[in-house]
Amino acid sequence: TKPLRLGIAGLGTVGTGVVKIVRQKADLLAARAGRPVAISAVSARTRDKDRGVSLSDYTWEDDPVALATRDDVDVFVELMGGSDGPAKAATEAAITAGKDVVTANKAMLAHHGQALATAAETAGRVLRFEAAVAGGIPVVKALTEGLAGNDVTRVMGVMNGTCNYILTRMQATGQGYNALFEEADKLGYLEADPNLDVGGIDAGHKLALLSSIAFGTQVNFNDVELEGIQSITLEDIKHAADMGYRIKLLGVAQLTGRGLEQRMSPCLVPESSPLGQLEGGTNMVVLEGDMVEQIVLRGPGAGEGPTASAVMSDVMDIARGIRVSTFGQPASGLQQATAARASTP
Ligand code: HSE
Repeated sequence: TKPLRLGIAGLGTVGTGVVKIVRQKADLLAARAGRPVAISAVSARTRDKDRGVSLSDYTWEDDPVALATRDDVDVFVELMGGSDGPAKAATEAAITAGKDVVTANKAMLAHHGQALATAAETAGRVLRFEAAVAGGIPVVKALTEGLAGNDVTRVMGVMNGTCNYILTRMQATGQGYNALFEEADKLGYLEADPNLDVGGIDAGHKLALLSSIAFGTQVNFNDVELEGIQSITLEDIKHAADMGYRIKLLGVAQLTGRGLEQRMSPCLVPESSPLGQLEGGTNMVVLEGDMVEQIVLRGPGAGEGPTASAVMSDVMDIARGIRVSTFGQPASGLQQATAARASTP
């Protein structure tokens, strides 16, 4: 049987993790998919760097667009990051060249996901992004497939591990925001632009993606009301604790009488609730649907193994011939909300 051939752009933490899985679990993946999963070519900013895994079996491309359009690549795996620039150019080139795309790039999708998804659909290709939201938690799959018989009514969650780490450490150690921001920096948790984390932007990107899937809307990051954690003081944390609450950077997307509401902001949650108990760099997503009522998913929101695990979930679906598209699936609740909005003065 024909192997599924990957071209991987970006060999940071996540890309390296994907290469390791493909190499180390080749037999298992082939058995599960019914065909081998192989890597044809790779690209990254720096070639000469010890990544702890051999790349000598793969063609090296300096240019991600060249990688994305190679004849021996079936799936372009975009793990470079950045909302514009090379990641977007290479993704567009891949779709035009007739490749399926798997990406972990939440910023690119939050800004350009609709256009990219439309291009992919027109070309008959799939654009998959399990790894873009909540790292190792298979939340995109849970929404699109697991809850396919539901009208989703609400999506909530803690989707930035760095902010959760800073807030829970403020509570646990009594140190202030600045000290714990430094600590998160030393541990390598912060995005290259830390404001993406502490400004709530990264989590807002993820919420925008989830709500578009849940409610069948066009991805629109500009519609997310955002507030970061930079101004949370130790006093705020202590007052909350005195009342039996924790402060979490919580995202909520729900249908209201005025349409789809999307908000990412510091919120009080009861200390004894699952969200209140969430510690460290962990993520939690709560999904509510008319049939299932409520499900809670919890797991690592970042890191090599967990994020590569999510990338492989998409790769394996494609290898198995599962071509479920995620953006733009119809949702009946939305039609009601849109109708309500139209009739609200
Ligand atoms: N900076 C992100 C976080 C990484 O802290 O959750 C995963 O998207």
